[in-house]
Amino acid sequence: FNLLAVKIHLVLLLYCSLDYTFFALLCAGVKKGDRVSIYMPMVVELVVAMLACVRIGAVHSIVFAGFSAESLCERIMDSQCSLLITAGGLSNPHRRLTHVPWNPDVDLCWHTLVCGESDECEPEWCESEDPLFVLYTSGSTGKPKGVLHTISGYMLYTATTFKLVFDYQPDDVYWCTADIGWITGHSYITYGPLANGATSVLFEGLPTYPDVSRMWEIVDKYHVTKFYTAPTAIRLLMKYGSEPVQKYKRESLKVLGTVGEPINPEAWQWYYTVVGEKRCPIVDTFWQTETGGHVLTPLPAATPMKPGSATFPFFGVVPAILNESGEELEGPNEGYLVFKQPWPGVMRTVQGNHQRFETTYFKKFPGYYVTGDGCRRDKDGYFWITGRIDDMLNVSGHLLSTAEVESALVEHEVVAEAAVVGRPHPVKGESLYCFVTLTDGVTFSRALETDLKKQVREKIGAIATPDFIQEAPTLPKTRSGKIMRRVLRKIACDERDMGDISTLADSSVVEELFQNRCSTAV
Ligand code: WTA
Repeated sequence: FNLLAVKIHLVLLLYCSLDYTFFALLCAGVKKGDRVSIYMPMVVELVVAMLACVRIGAVHSIVFAGFSAESLCERIMDSQCSLLITAGGLSNPHRRLTHVPWNPDVDLCWHTLVCGESDECEPEWCESEDPLFVLYTSGSTGKPKGVLHTISGYMLYTATTFKLVFDYQPDDVYWCTADIGWITGHSYITYGPLANGATSVLFEGLPTYPDVSRMWEIVDKYHVTKFYTAPTAIRLLMKYGSEPVQKYKRESLKVLGTVGEPINPEAWQWYYTVVGEKRCPIVDTFWQTETGGHVLTPLPAATPMKPGSATFPFFGVVPAILNESGEELEGPNEGYLVFKQPWPGVMRTVQGNHQRFETTYFKKFPGYYVTGDGCRRDKDGYFWITGRIDDMLNVSGHLLSTAEVESALVEHEVVAEAAVVGRPHPVKGESLYCFVTLTDGVTFSRALETDLKKQVREKIGAIATPDFIQEAPTLPKTRSGKIMRRVLRKIACDERDMGDISTLADSSVVEELFQNRCSTAV
């Protein structure tokens, strides 16, 4: 179903009909250790389904509802899920319901299964290192990797970071605007808050519907005290100025959090001054699907803040900055962000491919966990994330691999070769700029461009829709045939200062690409 076709409503987390659901899953034949895929909108049944899996020792694999059927299929196959829990329909803001056709051979109805079941279900006893869930994240070599987290370490870590980073108090009303389909929702909507018994707002909707005051209206309605969102949402709302924010009081707010990408100081200042009225500390939390929970973060009111810096490591986390040859840099410096020792919430393996786990995170610098992010440390020891240094893009806080988008493009019959780079975007952080080389005799057209965008949307999902597609009769390559992305990035951003391009096999392609670059998205 369509991510944008969301039903606008809000529910408070309820522990309703949980036990029935455990039984229903048992009835569907799910046993301890089995894998269950979940593909659902942000409704309370999603949380119920997750907890039901955990109760009976099954391992959930949630796929963000904005991913395409093909992406869902790939994840189901990779994690060997025997059951998919999904929603049969979803209404959009105009109250149109889209229905998925029913197939009696494979489909089971939640309500029919739950009906008449006992409301008691003994928990399945598990080892602390048994798997809790698998969650897929983009990999720089193309295929997404199933990040596997285990029960006790992850629970301990999300519970502790939630408590300390949001300074959780029993009378708090906490609201994280993320989707549960991403790690932020797993750790800081479901597990961290519920392990602390926190009252949460679970929201399905858009920050701009029915109007751009939506967030603040909800803050006032439910007296939200701790609020957690992404820089892309802040930048989006910032465009409309302070008036839509000031229509609501926001007196209940105490701590404001951000996650997902570096926050630019301007957005930080707006969040701090306009939304929090300089009363609320901002916690800029740096972490990853792989880290399970916050790894670099301020503690509210305890850590002196610097706008745009995730400040210092959380307890037990030991970061270092390395240069290209793997030497640890001391003092003010910039390089690769790595961690020197494990913490309870770190991922344990890549689903079905432990080798890939070792290669991805531990091979480049033996003995260190490599985040894939660049980082600067200033003279006061503050950490500043500078962004990805691998072939990953961060679009609206969603990590995408360039290779994944490229392979969706080249699957089109007229595309011979494709190269995708990021171009800075004022709201999304980065946008997708794609270069395509067409097969002989094919001419580039608007219709083809539309078709290619559709192809990527269908293969991966709406979040990966290209913003720009430029025809490249040839791509800039080194003499050994490697595409020079650095050059393509400069072209996408219209930066004429190319640096050293002496390794380029044919430098005339650069000028040609410059002349035909896309200046605005169509
Ligand atoms: C980026 C999301 C700067 C970073 C929790 C990381 C950030 C990737 C921040 C992980 C932050 C996340 N400041 N960059 N506060 N938080 N990132 O796996 O590039 O979806 O590696 O996990 O997001 O994205 P993921």
